[in-house]
This record gives sequence, structure tokens and C-alpha cells, in this order.
Amino acid sequence: MRVLLLGSGGREHAMAWKMSDSSILKELFIAPGNAGTKEYGTNVDLSVNDFEGIKKFVLEKEINMVVVGPEDPLVNGIADFFEADELLSSVPVIGPNKEAAQLEGSKDFAKQFMKRHNIPTAKYGTFTKDTLKEGYAFLEKMNSPYVLKADGLAAGKGVLILHELKEAKTELKSMLSDAKFGDASSRVVIEQFLDGIELSCFVITDGDSYKKLPEAKDYKRIGEGDAGLNTGGMGAVSPVPFANPTFLDKIENQIIIPTVKGLKREGIVYKGFIFFGIINVKNEPYVIEYNCRMGDPETEVVLPRLKSDLLDLFEGVGSNTLSERDIVFDDRNAATVMMVSGGYPERYEKGKQIYGIKSVVDSIIFHAGTTSDGPAIMTNGGRVLAATSFGKDLKTALKKSYESLEKISFENSNFRKDIGFDVV
Ligand code: AMP
Ligand code: GLY
Repeated sequence: MRVLLLGSGGREHAMAWKMSDSSILKELFIAPGNAGTKEYGTNVDLSVNDFEGIKKFVLEKEINMVVVGPEDPLVNGIADFFEADELLSSVPVIGPNKEAAQLEGSKDFAKQFMKRHNIPTAKYGTFTKDTLKEGYAFLEKMNSPYVLKADGLAAGKGVLILHELKEAKTELKSMLSDAKFGDASSRVVIEQFLDGIELSCFVITDGDSYKKLPEAKDYKRIGEGDAGLNTGGMGAVSPVPFANPTFLDKIENQIIIPTVKGLKREGIVYKGFIFFGIINVKNEPYVIEYNCRMGDPETEVVLPRLKSDLLDLFEGVGSNTLSERDIVFDDRNAATVMMVSGGYPERYEKGKQIYGIKSVVDSIIFHAGTTSDGPAIMTNGGRVLAATSFGKDLKTALKKSYESLEKISFENSNFRKDIGFDVV
């Protein structure tokens, strides 16, 4: 198979690394990729949202499958673009179409969907600038803290959690009337605050059947002890110790099955990964959010635990035969720790040379924001690379990742020293 993978983060490096194992892979291209993905295929200088450019490349290289890493092209309708084109319609896209991707692309769509299918989630109301007054009245009836969510994609920044009613009202107005998050906040979902511990669950589906992937927990805040600003994710562990079989069964029965069946019943064809952001409130699971793609850095611990051929699963998605495929996992624990540019998630510099990657033997180094300059590897983003390791327990896996990161350096690097602190 000749595969084009879209994206350039640690998630895509992990996908490229995993697909390179496949007996059915003939050639892999990654657009745009990073310095790490180059080891497993050819990087192509194409933007993930340049559908015409992607079309030209797919036809020229006789690509048989397109795997989509990030949410943006999915929410923008890349699967629909392929399906509508006579020359592309036979090329499966691994990732949902525009309608199905609304599970991530619109918080209000996701909330309504969950309501229709009795999927446990926080109580909510949705408001626009024409219903701002009703929004204020809704806030007055809620208790602190107040959760405000921009309806559309806002690069992970669209959720505000506020302690004062006055502040919540000001922010609601700024989101709705002053377009704080642009078009994404032309509608705002106000939610009941749920107090609990979060985890990420994943399935892959062909629209009929699904296969569960291992669960993971990521660490979103920049600072130790989960303090400071939100980031894309500073590390992850899998499995998640508090997710015992009873709790995982509840997630499957109350959330996963109703979601997959609900989509099908509504005639929404969903092909690809579904990411369930779950919160555990007194041993009951609630959906915090859906994503229409794999998590990052969760992928960097989930895929290393997958023993089965990833491309075989993708082929099952493309041909609607996922139920006939096997999925097997490694029982060992996996942990990943992200090394980021100093200053991230605020202002940071790029273009710093990275040393020591080749001296790491006990971890897999997944590149995220990197680029090559001749033989040198340079930083090219906020999240730069992730060190993933296995262990008989999480403590052992984390120790290896930390030892590996000690061997890697670039100017002004940073990483959290406490990944797993709350579950180990
Ligand atoms: P989201 O983009 O919907 O995942 O929200 C970002 C983060 O905000 C989540 O990972 C949670 O930590 C937090 N969050 C979102 N919704 C709620 C809620 N209803 N209650 C408590 N925390 C929430
Ligand atoms: N790590 C969370 C996400 O990928 O959205």
C-alpha cells in the first residue's frame, strides 16, 4: 500500500513509526512531517489543508490511502472532498467526514448528540450574541466555578474556567459579542463544572464495528502539580491505574457503544478514530469532550502498546471489515515525557540545535516540533520531542524516559519532572 499521512507532530511520528512495521506498506509519505518522520518515509512539503495540492500528489504518486492526523482537515471536510471527486473516491480517508467531525468541531453539536443518546455529560446551555441575556441568567443559576466553551475549534484555547460570576459574565460577553475566539465563539456552551480526574479513551471504527485502543492519561498543564497554563500536552501514561475493569466497562457500555450506535442510527458515517475525553466523578464516567482524531501525546503511549498491524486496521476501516481484524496489546506500561521550548505555551524561540537524540537507547524518541538542517536537527515548535519508554510498571517506564531526556539538550529546553505524579 502507498500511504499519505497528514500532520507533523509527535502523534504523526508515532503513526509513521508504527505503520513502517506493516507487511502491507509499500511506500509512506508524510505531509508536511518533521525531522523524525523522515526516517520512515518521504516528507512532502504540503499543508494539511491544501486539498487541491493533496489531490494532485495522491494522483501523481498513486496513493492508496490517506491517514489524517490532526482535526483541522477533517473538520474542513477532507473526507468529503475525496468522496465527491471522481478520481479520488476510491482512495479511503482514515478520519471522519465533515458531519461526523462535528463531534469535535462543534461543542453544541456534541452536547446535543449526547443528550439524544443519553450519554453522561455535564448539564449545559448554548448561547449566541442574540441570547446573551439568557446566558447571564443561566450563569446566575449555576454554581462556581463556571465553565465557558467556544463552540468551534480554537486550537485548544477555547475553554475558560472561572471562579467569579462577574468575571464569567464579562468573558461570556467577550466571547459572544467581541469574538474573543473569532468565529469559534459565535456560539458558547456554558457547562456545569465536573470535579474529578480525567483520562482519554480511544476507539477506531469503520462506522459499523469498533475496536478499543488502550486508555491513557495526559498532563495538559505546563507546570508541575498541574499548575499554570494549558498546553497541547506535556506527557502521558498508559494504562491508567484508576481505570479498573469495572470503570472501563462503564465507559464502554454508557459511552462508547451509545456513541458508535447513535452515529450509525443517525445516518452519520464515522470512519476513523474517536477520542473520548472522560472525567471520573465518584467512579462514574462523564464525557468532557469528543475529538475526531487521536490524542497527542496520548498516541505516543497508545501506539507503542499496539502489537497488531496498524495499517491492517486502517484497511479494515477503509473496506468496512474492521470486525474481521485482530487487535492485540502489550501488557507493559508505557510513559512519555515531552521536551518543550522554554517559554512555551507562550512566546518561545525556534531554530535551536538539538543534541543527543542518537545516544538514547532505552526510549523511543518521537519528534514533534523539529526540522532538519543538513545533518543537524533543529527545534521548530513549542512541543519539540517526546521520550516514550516501557516498564513493568509506570514508575520504571517514567524513570527510563527521564534518564533519556537527560541525554538530550537544546538551548532553553524544559520538561515537567512529575508526569504520572497523581497516579503512580
Ligand atoms: P475541552 O477542550 O472540552 O477538553 O476542555 C479543556 C479542559 O477543560 C478539559 O480537559 C478539562 O480539564 C476542563 N473542562 C472542560 N469541561 C469541564 C467541565 N464541565 N468540568 C470541569 N472541567 C472541565
Ligand atoms: N492531549 C489532548 C489532545 O490531543 O487533545
